[in-house]
Amino acid sequence: MEYLKKAINGETLATQKYSVFAEIAKKEGFANIAYLFESLTVAEKIHIKNHKNALDEDYKPENEDFTRGTTVENVKDAMDAELWENKKMYPSFIKEIKKDKKNPMQKVAQLSFEWARDVELTHHKALKIAMKYLEQGKEFDCSEIYICKVCGNLVFSKPTKICPICRHDPAFYFKVKRD
Ligand SMILES: [Fe+2]
Ligand SMILES: [Fe+2]
Repeated sequence: MEYLKKAINGETLATQKYSVFAEIAKKEGFANIAYLFESLTVAEKIHIKNHKNALDEDYKPENEDFTRGTTVENVKDAMDAELWENKKMYPSFIKEIKKDKKNPMQKVAQLSFEWARDVELTHHKALKIAMKYLEQGKEFDCSEIYICKVCGNLVFSKPTKICPICRHDPAFYFKVKRD
């Protein structure tokens, strides 16, 4: 299940990047963008958990290096990465897993990939909103972020309906704490 390991590597790198990007945003005075990056870290950890569950073996992801820039550059970098995962990475993994019929965890892995693929687009859109504010030289207007603990979907107000990605009850959403 090499693709599950690749997905775990990719999501692990994302959590490391976003934690650093949050620190940089904080130093540059963008507290709400820091909160967004911290929330994205929480969401990517949910993808890692789901992928590890599908992998069903002990696996320690490799450490990879990454570039860091200003907050504007980091938001752009994250936007592109989320879109690439949605359009390229997860669709190619889903194609692979569909061929892997003998794998007893095939269905679990496929669902984990499909949720992650769809969630990455919501992450991309959230970052795009933040970017709009940055481009106007304004602080990102965001006071609360909620995440679905099943699939990692991210929204800016308390959900009242089922999760559009994983179809779980809104009770599965939790508010990300701010420091
Ligand atoms: Fe993401
Ligand atoms: Fe969900």
